[in-house]
Amino acid sequence: MKETVLSGIRPTGNLHLGNYFGALSKFVRMQDDYNCMYFLADLHALTTHPDPKMLHQNVKNILAEYLAAGLDPDKVTMFVQSDVPEIPELYLLLNMHVGIGELMRTASFKDKARKALGINKNDNESEEDIEKQIIGNETNKRVNAGLLTYPTLMAVDILIQKAHKVPVGKDQEQHLELTRRFARRFNSFYGVDLFPEPENFNFTSHSVKVPGLDGSGKMGKSEGNCIYLIDDEKTLRKKVMRAVTDEGPKVPNSPVSVPVQNLFDLMELTSAPDTLQHFKDAYADCSIRYGDLKKQLAEDILKITLPIRERIMEVRNDDALMGRVLKEGAEKARANAVKTLAEVREVMGIHKFY
Ligand code: TYM
Repeated sequence: MKETVLSGIRPTGNLHLGNYFGALSKFVRMQDDYNCMYFLADLHALTTHPDPKMLHQNVKNILAEYLAAGLDPDKVTMFVQSDVPEIPELYLLLNMHVGIGELMRTASFKDKARKALGINKNDNESEEDIEKQIIGNETNKRVNAGLLTYPTLMAVDILIQKAHKVPVGKDQEQHLELTRRFARRFNSFYGVDLFPEPENFNFTSHSVKVPGLDGSGKMGKSEGNCIYLIDDEKTLRKKVMRAVTDEGPKVPNSPVSVPVQNLFDLMELTSAPDTLQHFKDAYADCSIRYGDLKKQLAEDILKITLPIRERIMEVRNDDALMGRVLKEGAEKARANAVKTLAEVREVMGIHKFY
């Protein structure tokens, strides 16, 4: 029997190269060899309060992008998280075994809490100060409980399908670690072997972290530093040509600065190995021209994104296709979820009296 693969993306905007290399490209490469289930995490998106109209539209957009990138509905199950009501129920049950301390220490929670309270990462706030602000803030800004319990909901998405492999980017590894911990804890508390412990999946030896073009950090929707799969040629070229660099190496074999390393990292994902080597050699002997590097990088990114963009335009108005895919997907996802939830209820002692 094929192993189950499960992953999801929040419908909070169009997909960017981080989503593509961290997740979607792996989804596509895995579809022949595994029992793949890919979903749209609309309940997770609610943690940042999207406009209701945008949420609905974005579910459609991301499904169109899944299909355009090459996911085949005859091979994989695609569904919307909120179409599986067993997920919120298991989320409630699993939360009984999750500590608020471990949730508060999660890096993504601290990041999002900081954002919600308007605290910059660089402000000299200690972790304790931040925790105090989260608990005791008296302004009208608040950190919602959904953000805190985000990892429980994500664990439930995975555990309810009893998935073995979860293709995600590096930023999600802590969430996977928590999922394994929750699975172990549940199994050992009740003396059962109900949940498998899932792991990340990569085709390379390391997890993918796609950098932004602004010289720092990762590419992310909220950082405003993204190249989108749907960007047209002109927009994409402009973004790449504007990427932050430095003054260039003055002496041979200088260390590479972070912004330039970011461009090399992007090139590693998108260009042929000898192209990357050519620019690395040029950096080492100080002959590099960043303009040439960027032109080549834009070219190589476009080779990947333009065909996807074309297919997005084709499928995004095909409501009949999308409706069919999501309906069938919801049925399959629910069938598994109903079974797992019944097992959990049984184990926890929730039995019917009638
Ligand atoms: P989201 O929407 O934030 O991210 C979706 C996927 O894109 C990856 N990603 C990146 N990978 C590499 N470099 C980047 N710069 C980059 N930016 C985003 C993320 O790692 C992720 O794989 N919490 C999940 C959604 C989710 C989920 C799940 C995933 C909910 N439940 C269950 C797997 C299994 C998330 O991060 O979505």
